[in-house]
Amino acid sequence: MKDKFFRDINYMRISVTNRCNMRCNYCMPNVVKNLCENEILTDDEIIETARAAVRCGIVKFKLTGGEPLLRPKIAEIIYKLKNISGVESVSMTTNGALLAENINELQKSGLDSVNISLDSLDIKRFEKITGFNLLDKVLDGIDAAISSGVHTKINTVLQKGINDDEWEKILLIAKENPVYVRFIELMPIGEGKNFWGISNEKILNDIRKKYQGVENDFSVHGNGPAVYIKIPGFLGGVGFISAMCGKFCSSCNRLRLTAQGKLKPCLSFADYLDVREILRSSEKNLIQAKLENLIKKAVELKPREHCFETPVKNSETLRMFEIGG
Ligand code: 5AD
Ligand code: SF4
Repeated sequence: MKDKFFRDINYMRISVTNRCNMRCNYCMPNVVKNLCENEILTDDEIIETARAAVRCGIVKFKLTGGEPLLRPKIAEIIYKLKNISGVESVSMTTNGALLAENINELQKSGLDSVNISLDSLDIKRFEKITGFNLLDKVLDGIDAAISSGVHTKINTVLQKGINDDEWEKILLIAKENPVYVRFIELMPIGEGKNFWGISNEKILNDIRKKYQGVENDFSVHGNGPAVYIKIPGFLGGVGFISAMCGKFCSSCNRLRLTAQGKLKPCLSFADYLDVREILRSSEKNLIQAKLENLIKKAVELKPREHCFETPVKNSETLRMFEIGG
C-alpha cells in the first residue's frame, strides 16, 4: 500500500514481548515493570492482525522484542505467519543468547532470516554493555544460525568510548562467513538519548582506509534501509543502517506493532493506533474489516521523516525494548 509520499509500505515489525534477558545500556534500563500477560497481544491476536496487514499489502514480517525468543510458542507464531497466503518472508531480530537451542525448530517453522545483535567480542565489555556474561552463548547462537543455513546478519551498535574500536574485529565475521555485518547508528530513542553513537560515515571511511577495492553493493539483502558494500576477499558483506548521518526516511517501508498492540506509523513520534482495542471489543465478524481500516489509517499517518536531529520534536516516550527496534 502506498503512503502520502508514494512509499510502498510492505513490511511490518511485530514486537512479541517487552521482556529481555539482557539490558543493553542504550536500550533497556535495569529495572522495568513487566507487562501483565493480558496486556500483551495473544498468539491469535497477532495472527489476526497480520492477516489484515497482508490484505493491506504487507508481505514481510519481522518478529522483535525485547527478546522474541522469550515468548512461548514463538515457532508456532512463525509457522502461522508463514502460512498466511501472500507472506513472502518472516524474519527475527534476537540477541542470540537462546538461539543455538532454538534454531532448528525456528527453521522448521519457516524462519527465513535472523538478525543477531553483537556489540562486542570482548567478554568484559560485552557484559558492561549488555549487563550479562552471555557472549559465549551469543557466539554459539551465531554459529548455529550460520550452520543451519538460515540467512544470518549481525547487528552492531557502536558507542563512542565504549566499543567504537571493535568494528575491525566484528567485521572479520563477514570475512570468514557468508553473513552480513551491519553497523546501526545509535538512535536517540529512550535510553539511547543518554549515549553517544559513532557516525557510519566514519566507519565506512575507516574501512576504505584499511581495505582496498571496496565497492557498493546495490543488491537487496534485507527488508529495509541498510546500504551495503562488498570488500574483496570477504565471504559475506557489510551494511550500514544510518538513521542519523544518512537519513533513510524517503525509502521507509514499515509499520511497527508493539507487544501491547500499538500500531506505530513512525519510530520518532508518540502517535499510535490501538489494534488491541479493536481485537477485544469488536464483534468477531467485524474485526478483520476494522483492522484493515486501522492499518490503512496508520499508513496514511506516516510522516515524511523522523526528527531525531531536533530532539524537542521527537515525541516518542516508549523505549526501544518496548517498540522493537
Ligand atoms: N539505537 C540504535 N539501535 C538500537 N537498538 C536498540 N536500541 C537502539 C538504539 N537506541 C538495536 C539493538 C538491536 C536492534 C533490535 O535494535 O542493538 O540490534
Ligand atoms: Fe534486549 Fe535487544 Fe534491548 Fe539488548 S538491544 S536490551 S538484547 S532488546
